[in-house]
Amino acid sequence: MNTKHTFILDSVSKAFTQGERTITVLDNLTYTFDAGRSYAITGASGSGKSTLMHILCGLDTPTDGLVYFDKLNINKFDVRQRSFFLNKNVGLVFQEPLLLTELSVIENVMLKGLIIGYEYAQAHAHALKLLEKVGLADKAHMHPRSLSGGQQQRVAILRALFNKPPFLLADEPTGNLDDIAGRVIVDLLCEYQREWGMGLIIASHDAQVAQAMDIVLRLHDGNFCL
Ligand SMILES: Nc1ncnc2c1ncn2[C@@H]1O[C@H](COP(=O)(O)OP(=O)(O)OP(=O)(O)O)[C@@H](O)[C@H]1O
Ligand SMILES: [Mg+2]
Repeated sequence: MNTKHTFILDSVSKAFTQGERTITVLDNLTYTFDAGRSYAITGASGSGKSTLMHILCGLDTPTDGLVYFDKLNINKFDVRQRSFFLNKNVGLVFQEPLLLTELSVIENVMLKGLIIGYEYAQAHAHALKLLEKVGLADKAHMHPRSLSGGQQQRVAILRALFNKPPFLLADEPTGNLDDIAGRVIVDLLCEYQREWGMGLIIASHDAQVAQAMDIVLRLHDGNFCL
């Protein structure tokens, strides 16, 4: 169980300056995300959902405030520590599946395992089991582009979850999919969330996604309207 893990935003603000104009996207935001629960981040286009996701995973830094994973200040990580942190603790999924087209479907799934030192055969066997579970075992040796958008997104999710991270962060994971393919993705994420008590944080416009989460947080004027 990963229930002890937390992401903490402590008085986080983020402003962007363009020429003479500064816009405050996140304004003194404080919140704790617990592993074991699922969260939807909703809000109008431009309300700062993606900005918040980037700050949570350390791909961007706050203008003010602190972000902790457990007791670690993630903005203090150097490049090597950040990459270790992302491999071990946080799976990332985006609107585009972003599969590596130089690799086969199964090689995409096993990538994180190889990075942290699995034997190739061991990683391959584990990836095949994951693909079987989502009905894509027969596509294992295909080129990622030969899969549909929904199938590619399932592969991207398996890649993000290969190491059973305590948290999965997904930014509009169903944004390119129709309702049915989107539902498959949401069900898959919820199933894994329950399987090992993962924390799931999804930024989405999609009401179907928000409904399926334990907690819905709406961003407005730089903060959550609870
Ligand atoms: N790198 C940047 N430089 C300047 N402004 C930025 C940058 N990134 C985001 N912004 C601005 O911050 C605001 C929030 O953008 P963000 O992408 O977080 O919104 P969003 O809620 O994810 O929107 P959408 O629903 O359209 O994906 C927008 O006004 C955007 O123009
Ligand atoms: Mg966005």
